[in-house]
Amino acid sequence: MILPIYLYGKAELRKPTEPVSEGELNLSELTDNMFETLTVAEGCGLAAPQIGLSKRIFVVDGSELGDDYPECKDFKQVFINPEIIEESDEKATYSEGCLSLPGISENVVRPKTITIRYQDTDFNWHEDTYTDFKARIVQHEYDHLEGHVFTDRISPIRKQFVKSKLAAIAKGKTVSRYKYKK
Ligand code: NI
Repeated sequence: MILPIYLYGKAELRKPTEPVSEGELNLSELTDNMFETLTVAEGCGLAAPQIGLSKRIFVVDGSELGDDYPECKDFKQVFINPEIIEESDEKATYSEGCLSLPGISENVVRPKTITIRYQDTDFNWHEDTYTDFKARIVQHEYDHLEGHVFTDRISPIRKQFVKSKLAAIAKGKTVSRYKYKK
């Protein structure tokens, strides 16, 4: 089932999320729906607050990115109760966009490499290190679980530049190609 994506301005995107406990959610249905929604919206990551669910879960699917970032092509994964436990001092700059902020893309500086602990849908723990664009996707989605969006991290001058665009999204003046919730 395709879920409506919550857009900038919705309170759900600003709330820190709660841990997922075993048996509490129908994870197979939820993650199927999240992947389906992501595919239709042609995005590479979707976090639970973006569908109005205040839980610590996000999914990534890099298959759309194969041309620009071949290393992401097979990067399809569910992250439950993730915690970033290490960040490199070395930074990288990438242009980011977000399904909740249609029409906006800005350069964001973040750690180049991160190590994250998380559970899979069977609640087994994993610890993985990602670098470059994989690390970028993971950090962007992780931010959503903390109630942040990528424009929180851009320079003051760029913030000024996107202010009216963000206000327009928050007022519901958005035309996106996917199903969304104003
Ligand atoms: Ni996003």
